[in-house]
Amino acid sequence: MCGIFGAVAGAPVADTLVEGLRRLEYRGYDSAGVATIESGGLRRLCAVGRVGSLAERVATEHPAGNIGIAHTRWATHGKPSERNSHPHMAPGVAVVHNGIVENHRALRSELSAAGCALRSDTDTEVIPWLVARNMAAGNSVEDALRTTDRTLEGSYAVAALHERDPDTLYGLRRGSPLVAAIGPQGGYLASDANALAGLVTQAVCLEDGDLAEVHRDRLVVRDAEGATVDRRLIAVEHGTSSLDLGGHAHYMLKEIYDQPRVAALINDCYGGIGVLSNFLPVAPAHIRRITMIACGTSFYAASVAKRWFESLAGIRADVEIASEYRYRPLPPAEPGELAILISQSGETADTLACLKRLKEAGTPTLGLVNVVHSTLAREADSFVPLHAGVENGVASTKAFIAQLLVLARLAVDIADRRRGLRQDHVLSCLRALEQMPNTITAALHNESAVQALAETFRDARSALFVARGPLFPIALEGALKLKETSYIHAEGFAAGELKHGPIALVEDGTPVVALACSGDLLDKTGSNIREIAARGARITVVGDRGGILSLMDVAVGALTIPNCEEFVQPIVSVLPLQLLAYHAAVQRGLDVDRPRNLAKSVTVE
Ligand code: AGP
Repeated sequence: MCGIFGAVAGAPVADTLVEGLRRLEYRGYDSAGVATIESGGLRRLCAVGRVGSLAERVATEHPAGNIGIAHTRWATHGKPSERNSHPHMAPGVAVVHNGIVENHRALRSELSAAGCALRSDTDTEVIPWLVARNMAAGNSVEDALRTTDRTLEGSYAVAALHERDPDTLYGLRRGSPLVAAIGPQGGYLASDANALAGLVTQAVCLEDGDLAEVHRDRLVVRDAEGATVDRRLIAVEHGTSSLDLGGHAHYMLKEIYDQPRVAALINDCYGGIGVLSNFLPVAPAHIRRITMIACGTSFYAASVAKRWFESLAGIRADVEIASEYRYRPLPPAEPGELAILISQSGETADTLACLKRLKEAGTPTLGLVNVVHSTLAREADSFVPLHAGVENGVASTKAFIAQLLVLARLAVDIADRRRGLRQDHVLSCLRALEQMPNTITAALHNESAVQALAETFRDARSALFVARGPLFPIALEGALKLKETSYIHAEGFAAGELKHGPIALVEDGTPVVALACSGDLLDKTGSNIREIAARGARITVVGDRGGILSLMDVAVGALTIPNCEEFVQPIVSVLPLQLLAYHAAVQRGLDVDRPRNLAKSVTVE
């Protein structure tokens, strides 16, 4: 949450700063701002809303400095406004910040009592004032930042500028990601190395407690003890293909249609038997229990995989919402436990807090991560890259499919290693996974039918998604996707739970999406659907041929998915739901890639 960018060069940096922010906009888009040093003095420009609004101000006001810092905000303290936009300033100093300063109230009172004129409602604003106070006491900028770091509680990444040192950018990392780099045109700081594409070929990943001094042609990183350190270098991919819409109207649609390619890549990387189990931090034969921890959509991937691990591999598997798990009292770890942490970004604060806790308890940890340079990828005992490619839309689509595909292969692999499966079943699951690029392509063929259904959702106030078994988490994901993009109130329910309460919501015309595919649970699901149809629900069935035929008498609409092995039905069933969420949002005229109040990388708890 919140994107930080900084640049120092031999020419004005304002355009570079704005371009950097565009690439970080997925981290928050409540407001944006830049600060540069011009003629020895700080100049700040801010705008509420998307980076585009700031770009307009920059284009008309032409800030001229060769050094600057910039920020795109996801509001935590204080509503989106120019006053609360970063950079925040105190005499001589400007700061941009990602994270939360937990002791900001006490610091604010102390600073205000000392006569500092804090103007915003943010936690961030204490930082420049602390730096200014430490400098007034005779410290260098670096020492002032160090002292400030010792005063702050919380997790943060900071970039700072000071008029006294107009050729140097400072970057401090304490819990939130920050990279630094030098390229032919200058030096940079950014929350994410992808924001540096085209400027540098590699970047340095700062570690917690590091303070980077970035000059035009030189970078010095010092650790918390002040020792100069060499940190891990990561390659920065050239080009802006991830920002290119590739002919699609939105990133979400582009990413939905990228899913066959992702499936093919996962087959190439992890195909066959035994490949994924090599990534495990414990031998498959020793695993007695798996705990999967994640948030949001990643949690639903875990919830599908729970059923795969239990039914295929015969291993008890639990799923945990990271924000709950991190604070729950736990019994001591037992031998044979494996924790799998699942995250597209690899920077989700709650998931990382769980990782820390698990590592302290000595539980082996495996990260399933899309962003390979992320904290989760670095700090888990081992990690599997999801290979979904950059996901720009805030609503996760292709990363979810990648999570499911990797988890499915992992379950098959572990099942095979433990000999808990009949060989022919392993083979048919594997064959279904090999077929996934084609199956996904086929499932995406009925976009016009989805579009027609989305039209019926245009004025809906709420919608229900119902399913059983491994399709139940897909109902939850379908509901999450719809509410995220279209702001329609949507809930997912286990079909068997309806009569324990939720059925009271059903009235004449209530839109219900029922997931129904051939298999053992189809008749049970069918009975539950009939019960709500009898009470006026407007049923759309999403299912294979068998599922749709069995409910034809009560359904008003149907979205067909290709017939496939039961094992992969959850993966295929989510595709029409992604398209439904997309089209519902478009038809309601909403910003489908940047839904209100959300950010792609949730780096605060
Ligand atoms: C999905 O569409 C969401 N925007 C959100 O639920 C997301 O999956 C969640 O915040 C977890 O993110 P992560 O996978 O990066 O950890």
